[in-house]
Amino acid sequence: SDRMVLGPLVGSIDQGTSSSRFLVFNAKTAELLSHHQVEIQQKFPKEGWVEQDPKEILKSVHECVERTCEKLQQLNIDITNIKAIGVSNQRETTVVWDKTTGEPLYNAIVWLDLRTQSTVERLLKRIPGKNKAYFKFRTGLPLSTYFSAVKLRWLLDNVEEIRQAVDDGRAMFGTIDSWLIWSLTGGKNGGVHCTDVTNASRTMLFNIHSLEWDPELCQFFDIPMEILPKVRSSSEIYGLMKSGALTGVPISGCLGDQSAALVGQMCFQDGQAKNTYGTGCFLLCNTGQKSVFSEHGLLTTIAYKLGRDKPVCYALEGSVAIAGAVVRWLRDNLGIVKTSQEVEKLAAEVGTSYGCYFVPAFSGLYAPYWEPSARGIICGLTQFTNKNHIAFAALEAVCFQTREILDAINKDCGIPLNQLQVDGGMTNNKVLMQLQSDILCIPVVKPSMPETTALGAAMAAGAAEGVGIWSLNPGDLTAVTCERFEPQINPEESEYRYARWKKAVLKSMGWETS
Ligand code: G3P
Repeated sequence: SDRMVLGPLVGSIDQGTSSSRFLVFNAKTAELLSHHQVEIQQKFPKEGWVEQDPKEILKSVHECVERTCEKLQQLNIDITNIKAIGVSNQRETTVVWDKTTGEPLYNAIVWLDLRTQSTVERLLKRIPGKNKAYFKFRTGLPLSTYFSAVKLRWLLDNVEEIRQAVDDGRAMFGTIDSWLIWSLTGGKNGGVHCTDVTNASRTMLFNIHSLEWDPELCQFFDIPMEILPKVRSSSEIYGLMKSGALTGVPISGCLGDQSAALVGQMCFQDGQAKNTYGTGCFLLCNTGQKSVFSEHGLLTTIAYKLGRDKPVCYALEGSVAIAGAVVRWLRDNLGIVKTSQEVEKLAAEVGTSYGCYFVPAFSGLYAPYWEPSARGIICGLTQFTNKNHIAFAALEAVCFQTREILDAINKDCGIPLNQLQVDGGMTNNKVLMQLQSDILCIPVVKPSMPETTALGAAMAAGAAEGVGIWSLNPGDLTAVTCERFEPQINPEESEYRYARWKKAVLKSMGWETS
């Protein structure tokens, strides 16, 4: 049959907290040709615990790759044109596996998991002045349940099989990128054990200046360095796919999903920022080749290093743990909607929360508070309040949390952002986007290619040395806006609601102490 001639294509694995996806782009036009998505099961074995099955994650990725290839073939597109594959992933989520069997030794501990609250408190006792920010200048991070080091510490302390595997020299640690790349490049039969600088910068074991695992940090957390992956740049050939429809294709891009979205949004200039609404919500502002340290609760993280000999760029990050997850909670735990999309309709029907405020501190509060003792609250209820108001309050919570991190970024950077570039699944919700503009009092803009996370990883893969089908000239690249939301309420109204939100946040704190 007649095959369409498109030139080189690039594939992109996007392994997020809620789902896995595989997307294929036309390298010339960055047009999305086909994709497939599979939802990932979340396990909540105890209050505050969040786990996923690493094998289910891997299986879902294989399934997405195969199904996407089938869809391409149905479109008469030749899959041998796929010349490179990029990986982007949920960050911090921690896996330990046995390199001789290829089997995970425990479920993946998801970034949102709170079981390490007591581990963190125990470690804090060993730090002068119990200062959470003690390692800030080396790692960019505060000591928190969020990052991989404490999760790995917990696994070593609590899982006998893991301790045994470490003693026998069989254990490998990795974040999801490492687990996937190792498995996809052959697993126990010669898989490549690596990670990239952006993912490494979320472990709290990595020195973000020397770009190496930090022996002192490994000592502090008592982590055996031999189980850590090799750290590579975000754009180079790591290895080849060893099975499935894309056998032999190089995996040549790797970025934590938030870094990938920054690249996909073409935020290559100092001061450019994006906000991604996924399970959580993450605002990253590129600070170029200098690392900037926050005075207002933001993280310093590695934005990207697009090639072995390319410079490393940094970002300031405001991390919000719960964004899309609050909608999933309304669906799965309260059952007030059957699909996530219904929330928009429910909220639109009332257009106000009628004084109801919902602080979804399910995993404590992240930026700018870093308060593990917080728990979720819904307050301001009257007999008038109904599910519509709660749905509206849930969406408004996402907007208020973004406002808090935007305020922090503006204070740390000195020059306030005059618009916000957004992406991620929730940006399809127009009520949310309008509300976001109203709460921020600045325009919110959506790019014409909303799959920015996947595009970013594809760009890194296509640009790698030895692949070279995408040349990244950051100066020439800008995102094309397709949708724009302007503030529609007056700033006084916005400030009033924001002040009430802050009052609600105070009430959520100090609820649960370990
Ligand atoms: O730090 C966690 C983050 O990488 C997860 O992103 O899109 O799955 O919410 P997402």
